[in-house]
Amino acid sequence: MILKISTKNKVLEILESNLRQPVSGEQIAGQLGISRAAVNKAIAELRKDGIEITAKTRSGYVLEQSPDNIYAQDIAAALGLPACNVIVLNTIDSTNNEAKRMLNQSTAMNFPAIIIANEQTAGRGRHNRTFVSPKASSVYLSTIIKPDLPMDKMLLVTIAAAVAIVNAIEEQMSSDPDFYAEMVHPKIKWVNDIYVGSRKVCGILTEAITDVETMSIDKVVVGIGINIGIDIASWPEELRDIVGSIDLPQGERSVFVGRVLRHLLACIDMIAQDEKKLMDAYRAYSCVIGEPVRFVKQGMNYEGLAETIEYDGSLRVRIMSIDGVQHDDYLVEHLSYGEISIQI
Ligand code: BTN
Repeated sequence: MILKISTKNKVLEILESNLRQPVSGEQIAGQLGISRAAVNKAIAELRKDGIEITAKTRSGYVLEQSPDNIYAQDIAAALGLPACNVIVLNTIDSTNNEAKRMLNQSTAMNFPAIIIANEQTAGRGRHNRTFVSPKASSVYLSTIIKPDLPMDKMLLVTIAAAVAIVNAIEEQMSSDPDFYAEMVHPKIKWVNDIYVGSRKVCGILTEAITDVETMSIDKVVVGIGINIGIDIASWPEELRDIVGSIDLPQGERSVFVGRVLRHLLACIDMIAQDEKKLMDAYRAYSCVIGEPVRFVKQGMNYEGLAETIEYDGSLRVRIMSIDGVQHDDYLVEHLSYGEISIQI
């Protein structure tokens, strides 16, 4: 399947390449091979999305300010992929839902396929939680991959995504040391939350389509939501102390998304090529190893020390107490993804 770039986004691209210059409706229609009515409709939709487009009699439409947009072509070029592998949407219920719809509808599809959105109306987090996904500068994206991996490597896809995001943030920070002089380095809270200081800046939701006959992973949708330049005051009150965001210099949004995706594809390749290197990077970025942790398992309250993250992605915890009763023997629990939530 060829991923379609919407008319609205194509019109925006033309306006943006003529920033603050008028472009006539006729010119846009001719360039895209569409009707004038379709151009008018696209302009109306863009305005509805909050993009300021003025109309000048006899000269045409003018885009007054660049919305720091992401273009499929730029992302595809940064990844060395054909443009049809990337789609950029202004708004969608959830990029992971869209990815799954595409997989259901299509027989021929290019991989990796990438869906990027500026807003999600029904963003999903882990454990059926909502992932608040307002239209700001934040980016919500899903990558559909077809990895050649057995089912027991599934957790490593999530681990690879976490390492990739930290790599991308680090690369972003070193690209402009003055801009990021005040920012602390990102860390991974097991399994897949990315923190800057005490605030979560990014979430990952990995969903697999498995082949039970071969016990292998058929396709994986890796969903990533990164908060960029958010105004925390406008967020739901219960999230204001937890949520954080990355600031980007003006015009860097697309570059940053390209960085995230480039690292994502490279880290996913590492699962098969150099799992040890991937896990070493993950452990180096972990803010959990060596820290005291608390968790509840089968109704009992455990306290312990996070010792390491094993090669299968589980967290090894040395137990110090169970339900308040101190444990002096060397007792270890391995926490598996999805089973438990930990508090550091
Ligand atoms: C979490 O922190 O619980 C995971 C959040 C994952 C959010 C991303 S945003 C893109 C993709 N689409 C979704 O609906 N969810 C993921």
